[in-house]
Amino acid sequence: MRFALVLTTLALAACLLAWILWSRPVPHPEPVDVMPAGESGSGVSTSLSAPQEFLGATACRDCHPEMFAGFSQTAHHRTSLLPSPETMLGTFPAVMRTANPDLHFELEQTENGFFQAAVGFRNGRSDRQRQRIDLILGSGKLGQSFLYWRTNRFGEHELFQLPVSYVTPSDKWENSPGYNDGQADFERVIQPRCLECHTTWFGSSDPPRPGVNAFDRERFVLGISCEKCHGPGLAHVTYHREHPEDQNPRHITQPGSLPPQRQIELCSLCHSGAGIPLKPAFSYRPGAPLEEFLELPPYAEQNRIGVHSNNQVARLSKSRCFQETDGMTCTTCHDLHRFERGDLAVFSQRCLQCHQIEMSGTHRALGAQVNDNCIDCHVLKHEDKKTPFETPEGTFYVQMRDHLIGIYPAASAAYLKQHGLESATK
Ligand code: HEC
Ligand code: HEC
Ligand code: HEC
Ligand code: HEC
Ligand code: HEC
Ligand code: HEC
Ligand code: HEC
Repeated sequence: MRFALVLTTLALAACLLAWILWSRPVPHPEPVDVMPAGESGSGVSTSLSAPQEFLGATACRDCHPEMFAGFSQTAHHRTSLLPSPETMLGTFPAVMRTANPDLHFELEQTENGFFQAAVGFRNGRSDRQRQRIDLILGSGKLGQSFLYWRTNRFGEHELFQLPVSYVTPSDKWENSPGYNDGQADFERVIQPRCLECHTTWFGSSDPPRPGVNAFDRERFVLGISCEKCHGPGLAHVTYHREHPEDQNPRHITQPGSLPPQRQIELCSLCHSGAGIPLKPAFSYRPGAPLEEFLELPPYAEQNRIGVHSNNQVARLSKSRCFQETDGMTCTTCHDLHRFERGDLAVFSQRCLQCHQIEMSGTHRALGAQVNDNCIDCHVLKHEDKKTPFETPEGTFYVQMRDHLIGIYPAASAAYLKQHGLESATK
């Protein structure tokens, strides 16, 4: 079938919006450790040849082992991966049929890697186009999309998106978001901003040419690693290796000691929608004023619920919790060094830093029964109705938490009913 959707935003935004279409929530998967056994192996966060400043997360492991262990379970760490049997979630070999009887896709695995092939008939002749999966984007909470390298006539390396994606909830291969069913499109070019949000660092072609989205195939750091939030680690690591006696941290950014606005801007770099880049990708450093690097999307666009448009910043900042405290940030509730998805008791503990259970409207009737879940009554899940995703099984919508924390009587009633507690309030 077809996506009857008109994407009228900027070319870049269109790229992103595409993704919104197909994302569906997944039951919380178990955290997986994908680090290989070998000492030198840096697993999913590998850099083929580490660049000068950015070292990758394994460079932090020896001195911060607990932080490293927790972080390596997170979606941030796993959001960009090199293909391997461990990182590839979909099954090979497989065939994906389309509504077009003359076109199907084959997912193949050979000793040279994983491939997507479009097999069909064009102009009366059989036609086959095949590309290798060179890079995976997406931790697989919702799914994985795939990129491949192509060298242009100037010898520069460009990245393109592949037409088939893997969808976690259905455990199926599907048309990549925004791609028309029954067509084979291998020409969607990857913009730097896509990699800025899904990797730590990517080298560009040397010298960069304006308007050309060419990258360095050898020098990159995958995952949203420690250094994305703490700044490049070379000086810090070098210093502390040479001065093991010095326990005062040097040459590294601790976001927790930045002003709250600057802390939130670090998250806004990627959690406020694409916006318009004002400086080259990967030039922002934590602690800098984000407005010099990025023009954020208009408020109405930020205020929408969706994978690539959900602006936790815009919604949270309208909440009384945010407005009536000093210095609430994203890390008031989120620990970036742990996998906490779905652990509503842990999130509720964060609410109880400022609130007492007695404050909840339901407490009089229910007592501490609701202690472990403030979330389902006050931080609601909403579907993104504007972006339906059509599949043979029906229409699906993105479900995300609305960071506008508030009092929602209907949701509260539904929660009580679902848990057989309604009589307690009568
Ligand atoms: C050779 C040991 C060593 C390595 C490797 C190392 N650090 Fe550190 N780091 C330290 C020491 C020592 C401190 C200060 C004591 C502490 O906070 O644990 C520190 C503190 C920190 C702090 C807290 C800063 C503050 O102001 O409180 C951060 C953030 C940090 N390191 C990040 C990193 C990152 C990111 C990496 C990898 C790129 C890394 N470290 C690698 C030794 C190291
Ligand atoms: C402005 C930053 C930004 C840009 C640009 C961006 N993404 Fe994302 N992407 C995100 C964020 C943030 C999420 C996760 C939202 C969530 O989980 O709440 C996400 C989620 C995803 C996911 C789902 C991952 C999963 O399993 O949960 C995929 C796949 C993805 N993006 C692919 C892409 C591709 C391909 C591009 C470029 C063509 C792109 N994104 C551009 C920020 C961005
Ligand atoms: C997505 C952003 C992000 C990533 C990725 C990240 N951190 Fe942090 N880190 C923060 C923020 C924000 C703080 C301050 C608030 C807090 O303590 O949670 C922090 C605090 C720290 C501290 C100081 C903790 C303390 O109690 O003094 C250390 C050390 C640290 N991080 C190391 C690391 C290491 C090592 C990695 C990778 C293995 C890493 N971080 C990955 C954002 C991040
Ligand atoms: C470089 C871009 C980038 C930055 C900076 C960033 N994030 Fe993310 N974040 C992402 C992407 C991309 C995902 C989706 C990863 C996936 O599932 O593939 C994500 C996912 C998340 C999730 C969902 C995790 C889950 O398991 O469901 C949380 C929570 C989150 N980020 C919080 C933060 C906070 C808080 C900050 C600021 C300290 C921050 N992020 C900084 C890009 C970023
Ligand atoms: C940093 C402190 C802080 C944290 C953490 C916090 N809040 Fe609040 N919250 C406040 C303050 C201050 C107010 C406004 C005064 C009041 O009602 O107590 C408020 C108001 C509220 C309200 C009333 C909203 C309204 O529109 O009238 C609710 C409901 C609420 N919080 C729930 C939560 C939940 C649920 C969490 C955890 C997900 C949470 N809060 C986390 C400080 C906080
Ligand atoms: C008052 C607590 C609180 C604050 C502050 C907060 N969050 Fe959340 N956030 C939550 C809860 C609760 C969830 C749902 C967690 C779950 O279901 O696993 C969540 C989920 C998320 C997710 C996963 C996608 C989704 O919608 O389920 C992302 C991404 C995220 N938060 C980013 C942020 C960012 C960025 C900030 C700062 C602007 C922030 N959060 C501030 C409580 C908070
Ligand atoms: C079953 C749904 C439900 C759960 C669970 C729940 N609340 Fe509430 N809460 C409500 C409703 C409904 C109100 C408003 C009615 C009232 O105040 O009588 C409310 C009111 C509040 C207020 C505002 C009180 C005021 O006077 O403005 C706060 C703060 C609050 N809740 C915090 C929490 C915290 C913290 C938790 C978890 C420990 C929690 N709630 C769990 C339904 C719930």
